[in-house]
Amino acid sequence: MRGPDGTGAPTAVIGGLGSWLPPNVVGNADLAARLDTTEDWIAGRTGILERRICDPDTLTSDIATTAGARALRSADEDGAEAVVLATTTPDRTCPASAPLVAARLGLSGAAFDIAAVCTGFLYGLAVAAGLVVSGTADRVLLIAADRFSTLTDPQDRTTVPIFGDGAGAVLLRRGRAGDPGALGPVILGSDGAQRDLITVRPSGVASPEPGGARAGYFEMQGRKVFRHAVERMGEAAADALAAAGWDVADVDRLVAHQANARITANVADRLGLPAERRVENIARVGNTAAASIPILLAQAADEGRLRTGHRVLMTAFGGGLTWGATTVLWPDVKPRTDD
Ligand code: COA
Repeated sequence: MRGPDGTGAPTAVIGGLGSWLPPNVVGNADLAARLDTTEDWIAGRTGILERRICDPDTLTSDIATTAGARALRSADEDGAEAVVLATTTPDRTCPASAPLVAARLGLSGAAFDIAAVCTGFLYGLAVAAGLVVSGTADRVLLIAADRFSTLTDPQDRTTVPIFGDGAGAVLLRRGRAGDPGALGPVILGSDGAQRDLITVRPSGVASPEPGGARAGYFEMQGRKVFRHAVERMGEAAADALAAAGWDVADVDRLVAHQANARITANVADRLGLPAERRVENIARVGNTAAASIPILLAQAADEGRLRTGHRVLMTAFGGGLTWGATTVLWPDVKPRTDD
């Protein structure tokens, strides 16, 4: 918001946007051929028609580097003072993957990972904005990259159809509220008491919390997750609107984490947002975890569904449990979705 003297509060602005998706498309028919499921069940219960899956030799650092390079090019920048990587599938448990990504991009500033599962991009936005507003970094490259195909049990019909792989990134610079690309306040929350609803238990290491037969595989209590996702994203989105000083009627586009088409529809209905203000891509990519929102932003901007000046409301939900929401005044950026 602009003050009476025409200036806005310091904030971070989006200056560039990039994304990457694996070329390998896995359709519902492919899954129905090898799992106890049907094309109609997957499409009807989730809205997903196909997803992109990385080949086994591709690491999260690889896809993060490509998306990050694209965001830098989109922003016409040759570097950034910090690289923040939101991921649940880092190359290694230790060290973080962000320093390797930074090195590959020729960068040697701060570099660290954020683990907030499917809310990782929104947690990352809050942290990255803090770095630029505090003066720690003039430019922050925030990348969200996940390969959930490495976490799901290949025989598990309840999780395999839902997830896809991919990466997205934004370049943030310092700016003022009201500038093109300006982020509003970021609303974040968590509930660790519900951590078993979405989890990967430890495997292969001595642990005081042994994982049992499902160790190392993604586990989810789908129905409970569904309910929490709708409630938490709806509440966080309403709080983000209030914090930004926007009404629901001001929102041109809702960009919600792409977990399930029915979840997004429920969140929009709770907020009172009509279908034409939702942008979605779940049918083509499934749930790409932390990368979901930046991949959707890049596709929607590329296809003209997001336009300069649009008031955009973003919200996400994931394991932890974690959730978040924020607003952005859509900038005049050309996303890079190829090299
Ligand atoms: N094909 C066919 N049947 C399936 C199936 C599949 N791929 N997956 C589950 N089923 C079966 C179940 O076994 C169950 O059978 P039962 O009634 O005999 O026990 C039945 O379908 C209903 O299962 P349920 O889990 O209650 O279905 P649902 O309508 O809740 O849909 C999800 C399941 C996972 C699609 C849904 O709960 C969901 O999207 N949850 C949120 C997931 C999510 O977004 N996670 C990420 C958060 S970031």
